[in-house]
Amino acid sequence: TTIAAVVPAAGVGARMGLNHPKQYLKIGDKTVLEHTLGKLAQVPQLTKLYVAVSETDGYFDELDLSGLAVSRVTGGQERSDSVLNALLAMQSTAPDWVLVHDAARPLVEINDITNLIEQCLTHQEGGILASKVKDTIKRGTSHSEETVPRATLWQALTPQFFPYHQLLNALQQAQQNNAQITDEASAVELAGQPVRLVSGRSDNIKITTPEDYALASFLMSQQSK
Ligand code: CTP
Ligand code: MG
Repeated sequence: TTIAAVVPAAGVGARMGLNHPKQYLKIGDKTVLEHTLGKLAQVPQLTKLYVAVSETDGYFDELDLSGLAVSRVTGGQERSDSVLNALLAMQSTAPDWVLVHDAARPLVEINDITNLIEQCLTHQEGGILASKVKDTIKRGTSHSEETVPRATLWQALTPQFFPYHQLLNALQQAQQNNAQITDEASAVELAGQPVRLVSGRSDNIKITTPEDYALASFLMSQQSK
């Protein structure tokens, strides 16, 4: 079974509010993106890493990625466009499965990644890392209209892991239907196909705001101990 990794890293990081994309923020002596790629490089099942980077990105080529089997591919307008571009870029040497992992999630643990891969291969269906919602969840705008029962609510994380052709078809279909999707699983759900929920660590956070960056810096310093 061949598995390629796709790392969408073509966002601008608007919610971080910096003048450069958040994947190039430093934690210790390495950028967020280097930490993330370093994690994926430790997963023996992954044969190749494709990083989707903006056409105008001048930072990526300056990274020290020596020793990693990494290819730069061109990202797109939305995250799903970046992932689709990466899948199209590998079409001539298509792997059996693809593992998509956000550049902005450097805290992911290798154990969680291998667990996701093993469970999905065993059941022969796609799946994602997810963690059960811990807070009480309200629906509303200025006032709470409803408390949503949380027993069956999950927070979607990455990696998200699917057979190559299933994900390619689902993303193309979503694009044709102009569906707003923020992860791979939602495209597969729209195509009516199952997405296995594999419980993962909730500290696999996506660095989105300055608070997340502060927390990620702390967690990363704990991990490297
Ligand atoms: N991403 C991408 N291509 C896009 C948009 C996002 O590859 N057109 C990537 C980001 O680089 C990030 C991941 O998808 O690694 C998750 O997206 P998000 O956290 O939303 O990052 P940004 O879009 O960069 O941030 P923001 O939404 O605040 O602008
Ligand atoms: Mg975004």
